[in-house]
Amino acid sequence: MKTQVAIIGAGPSGLLLGQLLHRCGIDNVILERHTSEYVLSRVRAGVLEYGFVELMREAGVSEHMDRQGLDHEGFTLAFQDGRHRVDMKALTGKSVLVYGQTEVTHDLMNARRENGAPIYYEATDVQLHDFLDGKPKVTFLHQGEQHSLECDYIAGCDGFHGVSRKSVPVDRIQSFERVYPFGWLGLLTDTPPVEEELVYIHNPRGFALCSMRSHTRSRYYLQCSLAEHVEEWSDDRFWTELSARLPADLAAKLQTGPSFEKSIAPLRSFVAEPMRFGRLFLVGDAAHIVPPTGAKGLNLASSDVYTLYHGLRGACLEGHPERLDRYSEICLRRIWKAERFSWWMTSLLHVFDSDPFSQRIQRAEQDYYTSTQAGLTTIAENYVGLPYEPVV
Ligand code: APR
Ligand code: PHB
Repeated sequence: MKTQVAIIGAGPSGLLLGQLLHRCGIDNVILERHTSEYVLSRVRAGVLEYGFVELMREAGVSEHMDRQGLDHEGFTLAFQDGRHRVDMKALTGKSVLVYGQTEVTHDLMNARRENGAPIYYEATDVQLHDFLDGKPKVTFLHQGEQHSLECDYIAGCDGFHGVSRKSVPVDRIQSFERVYPFGWLGLLTDTPPVEEELVYIHNPRGFALCSMRSHTRSRYYLQCSLAEHVEEWSDDRFWTELSARLPADLAAKLQTGPSFEKSIAPLRSFVAEPMRFGRLFLVGDAAHIVPPTGAKGLNLASSDVYTLYHGLRGACLEGHPERLDRYSEICLRRIWKAERFSWWMTSLLHVFDSDPFSQRIQRAEQDYYTSTQAGLTTIAENYVGLPYEPVV
């Protein structure tokens, strides 16, 4: 088998890259370890920056998103001293689109099925060969048969636990990591959201977030201990704890109901450098992880996809392989800014087991950033997403 670009992983990164490449006539094959049902069963954040929305439009997969997505012009930060609305539209002229990542993945999968481009689900034992200085090749097992895929480039879109990053010789890659001493317990329910916009809450009992998927489906989160198990959290216990963390007027109008998904996720910041190794490019979660506090995971994957897509167009269609040379540099500049913002939002909003001085500093930061135009603008422009750097 031969193709121009072998894409490892069919999460949002791999599917979006595959769709963009297919539309401009660059052959690609996607290899995914799991079934499509499994990929769709993972619940993730649902806040799309305008840059991601535009890329979905460019990829021709925005119809459902444009119809169903909720345009949000602001969100609220709630502290002990009161509530502060971050008016993104007034502060930056931009808004975000609330549309679940599961839906994004679903739309991209449908597009792949419709355009008939090759995708192998349940591809196991994926191995990457000769990408540093030879002609790259990917081998894998599918339905009991061994396959070999020759290619010009490999896009490692296989997430944090994937094989691509692990295939790089250890002396060529450096990683930077921070693990946080708590997790998020998330719950999905078919009840109307407590507020029309997202509310991020800092309460002495712990952080809480009120989010949504639609006008009738809510997503709530609670900061929890990593020692806890999801089975210890009945729906009743979740609603009681959420009510205790919400401002009183919100708690009074909270509509509860049975959950249909509940899970605990640890929080981590991680970056691997560089992101290019010969003809292998790491994309999305394969190269970086952010804590979910700024909703940046999918949006960061999107700017990597944008940069690689334009580099590959240069290399495969326009006779300019040097357009791939700045891939790592361009991606990492934006990634580190989003890492900073996600880390900062996490430290602003969570309860840490910290000394009294640090607690006063946290309170002063909450106060400063929400009482000055400069502070609110900083939050807003990072939340709506920093611009993508053109590839030239
Ligand atoms: N071979 C083939 N596929 C693999 C392998 C492997 N060895 N290892 C992992 N995969 C697949 C996973 O099954 C998964 O479907 O790669 C895909 C990676 O998808 P994500 O983890 O969703 O990563 P990415 O597409 O970069 O998404 C970035 O979306 O999922 C969120 O938290 C993520 O918000 C972030 C954004
Ligand atoms: C979500 O809706 O799941 C969500 C929203 C915002 C975040 C994190 C998660 O910051």
